[in-house]
Amino acid sequence: MVGVLASLRNGADVGYKKGAERTILPLTFIRLFCSFASTAPKIITTSIIVLLNDSLLNPSTSLISSCSTVINQQTFLHFSFNLMANASWFLTPSMRISSSIGVNRSGYCYPEVISTRVRCSSTDFESSPPSESRVRRLVSKGCKLVGCGSAVPHLQISNDDLANIVDTSDEWISTRTGIRNRRILTGNESLTGLAAEAALKALEMAQVEPDDVDLILLCTSTPEDLFGGAPQIQKALGCKGNPLAFDITAACSGFVLGLVSASCYIRGGGFKNVLVIGADSLSRYVDWTDRGTCILFGDAAGAVLVQACDSEEDGLFGFDLHSDGDGNRHLNAGIKENERNHESGTNGSVLGFPPNQSSFSCIKMNGTEVFRFAVSVVPQTIEASLAKAGLNCSDIDWLLLHQANKRIIDGVATRLEVPKDRVISNLANYGNTSAASIPLALDEAVRSGKVKQGQTIATAGFGAGLTWGSAILRWG
Ligand code: ACO
Repeated sequence: MVGVLASLRNGADVGYKKGAERTILPLTFIRLFCSFASTAPKIITTSIIVLLNDSLLNPSTSLISSCSTVINQQTFLHFSFNLMANASWFLTPSMRISSSIGVNRSGYCYPEVISTRVRCSSTDFESSPPSESRVRRLVSKGCKLVGCGSAVPHLQISNDDLANIVDTSDEWISTRTGIRNRRILTGNESLTGLAAEAALKALEMAQVEPDDVDLILLCTSTPEDLFGGAPQIQKALGCKGNPLAFDITAACSGFVLGLVSASCYIRGGGFKNVLVIGADSLSRYVDWTDRGTCILFGDAAGAVLVQACDSEEDGLFGFDLHSDGDGNRHLNAGIKENERNHESGTNGSVLGFPPNQSSFSCIKMNGTEVFRFAVSVVPQTIEASLAKAGLNCSDIDWLLLHQANKRIIDGVATRLEVPKDRVISNLANYGNTSAASIPLALDEAVRSGKVKQGQTIATAGFGAGLTWGSAILRWG
């Protein structure tokens, strides 16, 4: 075993970089290593970083369960699983092994962070000082938010405008939701156009050229192409280097998932400039005769540029992500078969073939259930992220929640004891803009001078799926 460890040490010293020869650590070896680590923690002074290329679920899950059979409470071995496409296996020379494994409850494994905030040693969580991060952050690179931008459609629809088409009133809508106006895509406007405008503004603020972007994540549930909209934004921005661009679909949680994904690509995958765009046009899927939903939604796009930096400057302190497919019944816009436009079974042999063309139904929501869900899980997820970051609510400069309902925002702030003047909200002007709401509100707060460089923001998204999640981050 010592010999095997010595060869690993050599591997770590040489360093396996992106694009270089792949290194595979068989599961049996990992098991053996974990057994060894659990019995002889003090001997091991080097660290292993295992990067699993584009396999989020199965390999890492089996490895985690395998490892967890051999670890004990005092001894953990830190592995990093790179979940990103386009990332080759590598070991970086800067990483060291400690005799510990960190696996969080989401099944994501963290290596030790080489930074002033985190110690690299045999780890006993119980004896960690309260100011230390309890979950180790990543190592090879840090990431920080260096630019933001947003764009909204021209047409503004007020509560009074809605009262002309459904049985409602400005008084009811503003009292129950806090919303007064929303913007709706019309005419020649497109979601792709809004997203590209927001992205360009973020690039300008960050002073980064489109050619230097190497990843574009479009967080949206309403792309203008079934196959995804991100490559069209790449085209609109004129990025010459053909950066990777793809969509992330997680409704109103999409932007938080996009931020965390960007950090993973940067920290483990060698990416440098990642555009995270939240853009949605739920107005296209609203039943404009349903007063329970049509009053809520608006269209918009917001973007941030997440940039690689030294690990000491890392600006994503902790995150926590969840989903619950069972809750889908409370909020969905499912696929529906359109009217048959042909005789079924016309070939005389297969009934139901060819299939009918499909489209999506309008948004259906049990507002009361979604409300209950939100006020319950959002404080929990923020507290979980804060714990992972080793921070308390009092350390937050700003609370920035998905802008769905003022009563939800107020309820969460009260539960977390965050004073009202530290809560960012622009819901009154735009309504619920789904994945765009967080970057849209962030952009306004940054450009108005409210949010300043170096300040800490607790952000959380929640919505259809059901999905929810939070992140604690630093602006700038
Ligand atoms: N105008 C006037 N009356 C209305 C309206 C309206 N626009 N909408 C509903 N009502 C009536 C109802 O019919 C009901 O009347 P009744 O008592 O005679 O039956 C009464 O008002 C109360 O209805 P509720 O649905 O119980 O109203 P509630 O206070 O729950 O507010 C709302 C509804 C605003 C939708 C709220 O439940 C909510 O915000 N839920 C959360 C939605 C959310 O956050 N979604 C986020 C995710 S979105 C995404 O992911 C895509």
